[in-house]
Amino acid sequence: MLKVAIIGVGTVGASVANILKDNKDIITARAGIEIVPTIGVVNDLSKKRDVTIELTNDIDKVLEDDSIDIIVELMGGIEKPYEIVQKALLKGKSVVTANKALLAYHRYDLEKLAGNIPFEYEAAVAGGIPIINALRDGLTANHIQSIRGIMNGTCNYMLTKMINEGVDYDTILKESQELGYAEADPTFDVGGFDAAHKLLILGSIAYGIDAKPEDILIEGIQDIDTPDIDFANEFNYTIKLLTIAKKIGSQIELRVHPVFISKDEMISKVDGVMNGISVIGDKVGETMYYGPGAGGDATASAVIANIVDIARRGKGSPMLGFESDNKENLTIMPKDEIETKYYLRLRIEDKVGVLAKIATILGENEISIEKMIQKPFNKTCAHLLLSTHTCIEKNIHKAISQLENSKVVTIKPVMIRIED
Ligand code: HSE
Repeated sequence: MLKVAIIGVGTVGASVANILKDNKDIITARAGIEIVPTIGVVNDLSKKRDVTIELTNDIDKVLEDDSIDIIVELMGGIEKPYEIVQKALLKGKSVVTANKALLAYHRYDLEKLAGNIPFEYEAAVAGGIPIINALRDGLTANHIQSIRGIMNGTCNYMLTKMINEGVDYDTILKESQELGYAEADPTFDVGGFDAAHKLLILGSIAYGIDAKPEDILIEGIQDIDTPDIDFANEFNYTIKLLTIAKKIGSQIELRVHPVFISKDEMISKVDGVMNGISVIGDKVGETMYYGPGAGGDATASAVIANIVDIARRGKGSPMLGFESDNKENLTIMPKDEIETKYYLRLRIEDKVGVLAKIATILGENEISIEKMIQKPFNKTCAHLLLSTHTCIEKNIHKAISQLENSKVVTIKPVMIRIED
């Protein structure tokens, strides 16, 4: 018998306890041993929870209990769970976590501390999709050329509703919170941080790269508005919050931001709250993964897969995918050097010479216009919506700041990258 303690008995924790009971026979047959959810640790014992396991608020008692084999950390946050899983590992207990923020900051320290003690985290990236397993084990023969993912269900749900049904940003954010998709602080979702945490974990497995959120480009969906959606529809694009990891020579681009992407791409068809990830390996080609990225049972499904894996083989694959250092010496591409195509939304004064002035600023920064539409905004102003050919990130920022100071642009320009 393998005894499991669940730290944090919210939606996912309750699902873990209940699925281990509901599907006990099949799980026991697959694991070769009975897995028993023994105790749950919660802050507030008076709150009603949909579980039959014993609950306590004494985490230390659980960590000191030598009969507990596996700690399942589902409490969220960073430093408090970090302290708890460190204590668990020092006591020799296996750890399973769904905590992407914890791993975004502490995955390498935890890998070192865990050593040969199993430490698994399938549910931390894209909930129920077994992407860690696929990338860490299924694709080991490959150099990973790119990972492009829709890994935040809240943003994907919001963008899908905004594009397909014309619902406005504030209304749809409120609805996502009511539906329980968004994190307690929705900035984590709409600001791109939740997706970035997941990307950093995949970046480690794919490339052996140690990056923190502050090292990479992270932008959210907060500025997207109706004219951008009109432009997308006009040119066969959809808008997605994309997590991107790309290998360019010995540099790795790691970035999270909204993109215009052709409606014909497979990843563009991942709509609503679902997640989707495309991974291109140099030998296998493109592989796609699709499924629920959040939700109690879907996330618990991944947590339990890790528990069964530990029951079967103890520490299996190396925690972050490498048994020894990746000798490729890959580095993160500086944010300013990224090269892509861009869309700009400019609110301009609708008068003689304005377009010429804008074209001059873009030209001086080596930015070439690909497509352009102008739409009236009010009696004196218009929206100028344009896309560029490929150019360098630092040039687009320089041009935007010159446009902003040029007097012909009346509010801060909005820029969205185009993923071709
Ligand atoms: N808030 C996250 C999402 C849940 O919307 O995808 C899983 O990390």
